[in-house]
Amino acid sequence: MHFYNFMHDELYCEDISVQKIAENIETPFYLYSQKAILENFARIDIAFRKVDHLICYALKANSNLTLLSLLAQKGSGADVVSAGEIYLALKSGIPPEKIVYAGVGKKDDEIRYALERGILAFNMESIQELSVINIIAKSLQKKAPISLRINPNIDIHGHPYISTGKLADKFGIEIPKVKQILHKLEEFSNIELIGLHCHIGSQITETKPYLKVTDLLNELAVEMRSIGIHLKFVDIGGGLGVRYKNVFQENQKSTTLDLKSILTPENLVSSLLPNLKQLSCKIIFEPGRVLVAEASVLVTKVLFHKENQGKQFIIVDAGMNDLIRPSLYGAYHEIVPVKQNTNEMLKVDVVGPICESGDFLAKDTWLPEVQRGDLLAVMTTGAYGFSLSSNYNARLRPAEVLVDGEKFQIIRERGKLENLWC
Ligand code: LLP
Repeated sequence: MHFYNFMHDELYCEDISVQKIAENIETPFYLYSQKAILENFARIDIAFRKVDHLICYALKANSNLTLLSLLAQKGSGADVVSAGEIYLALKSGIPPEKIVYAGVGKKDDEIRYALERGILAFNMESIQELSVINIIAKSLQKKAPISLRINPNIDIHGHPYISTGKLADKFGIEIPKVKQILHKLEEFSNIELIGLHCHIGSQITETKPYLKVTDLLNELAVEMRSIGIHLKFVDIGGGLGVRYKNVFQENQKSTTLDLKSILTPENLVSSLLPNLKQLSCKIIFEPGRVLVAEASVLVTKVLFHKENQGKQFIIVDAGMNDLIRPSLYGAYHEIVPVKQNTNEMLKVDVVGPICESGDFLAKDTWLPEVQRGDLLAVMTTGAYGFSLSSNYNARLRPAEVLVDGEKFQIIRERGKLENLWC
């Protein structure tokens, strides 16, 4: 769900022209629609209404504090992967008892930080981690609430970098080892096992892998019950995909098109419902991308247009340091001029100013001819956009701007030269 539309040939975010915002803010900048984020959250929350549930937003997708606060106010919890993310979640108003902490490499001081703050659970990724958390919890005279992250060896057929549920991936514990742990829990006096967790990857667009995961989780839950372990929650991970192509067709009220091409939260939950009910405990869902991706565009300005041996390059002021997804995953992001025109369509590479040939936002894409100074919107950039940005080439990180109806506010200032060295 997004709130970007063309009106009188101009791109609008909610009720304000993107061009107008860009008159006040230096490009490149990330623009977010508040309505889109709130609607996405409400939609997922409603989809899960038939089971006791907690939505734990995955902060890694975008950890802007203002956006986090919006979600916190709606009752969101947090899926975090570092002490920094715990800090941000708490600062935004997400209570500790709604925070789950995953990640294969938790440092001792991060474990201590999480224990001292009283988070809901550590999603445990290895047996060694289990014993380290046990020791640290003992030293703090606490019981660490944990859930076991299983590695179900399921292929989501996506980009290998964002698949996390195969045995070749570093994540989770393989099922036979999970079973071994269940039978030696008494060795860990300062651990309380309260949950099961599984996250198999990102940008998932079919139900099947989720069905397999919840089947497996049910099998394990039954086995655990039979030995007296009763789960407080089962965390089914995040991973729900969004539409990166033909993004404007979604707004044409063609629900059939929507349903055919992308897995909606409603469809996902209705297919999973029997499995989720059977688990008979709280269900945690950890979406990142689906909450924020479509709510944002990266606004960038055309600097130059050049041609090398017939190949056309549109050089813009945003680069791979601002949005790395195309360079890192070969990810596709639709690009549109902020002001539509009827110029000749050209096949172009849209590239940034960084000194690497891998610095591109789109390759062999079709754009109407644009001029120096024109603005382009790179669509669907709210997830893993700003959060993966860097100061590479000593470039300043872009501002972040939030739209609410006809109003906009800067929710993170553009980086400053004087901060580049610290
Ligand atoms: N839970 C865990 C344990 C995760 O590792 C992740 C994402 C999520 C939840 C949220 O997944 P989502 O709902 O956003 O798919 N940088 C990549 C995506 C990496 C995902 C990492 N883990 C990209 O730009 O596509």
